Amino acid sequence: MPKTIGLICGSLRKNSYNRIIAQSLTDMSDAVQFRWIEINELPLFNEDLEIGGDPETVAAFKSAIQDVDGIIIVSPEYNSGIPGALKNALDWASRPPRSSVLSRKPVGLIGATPGGLGTAFAQMQIRQILEAMQTHILPFQKVLISQVHEKIDSDQKILTDEKTKRYLERYLQQFIHWIDHTPVLD
Ligand code: FNR
Repeated sequence: MPKTIGLICGSLRKNSYNRIIAQSLTDMSDAVQFRWIEINELPLFNEDLEIGGDPETVAAFKSAIQDVDGIIIVSPEYNSGIPGALKNALDWASRPPRSSVLSRKPVGLIGATPGGLGTAFAQMQIRQILEAMQTHILPFQKVLISQVHEKIDSDQKILTDEKTKRYLERYLQQFIHWIDHTPVLD
């Protein structure tokens, strides 16, 4: 059975650059299958909504995470931080604490922006949040894509910059390796 990687996009925008970057990954390896995991229909997190069981969309979201071997989050940065929709999704996924579907899940992080700092601040926050859930984030590697609007063809909605493609291919290979070699901490 090929490994399955879930793709979560931190932007809800239809023509999101980050979604285009995430989509580009799906052509980069025959060794894995990709599945989109959407966050746009999740309710705003509220502990009251957990009483009597998760809402249907939340239960489906958690199952989708459970069913994949790893997750790659591709997210923009808003106001030097994590987009609210993504934080909301991660808060839902973090429940119940200590045995959440993200606990020990291999996770990779990618971010793209038309700006110059490649979502560095958002990625720092996302890492910190995931560490609170004992997520196995691919260490050391960072994919910070700056000036993304110059690296894609907006009409065809595809990544065209060869250097960025090669970088992403290498990152994906490292992430697939990471899925098989995450530390066993039990
Ligand atoms: C932004 N943008 C942005 N970019 C950045 O590099 N650092 C930042 O702090 C912010 N802050 C920010 C706040 C808000 C509210 C918006 C709407 C935008 C710009 C952002 O990178 C740009 O809109 C991207 O195109 C968003 O990503 P998607 O939707 O194209 O994937």
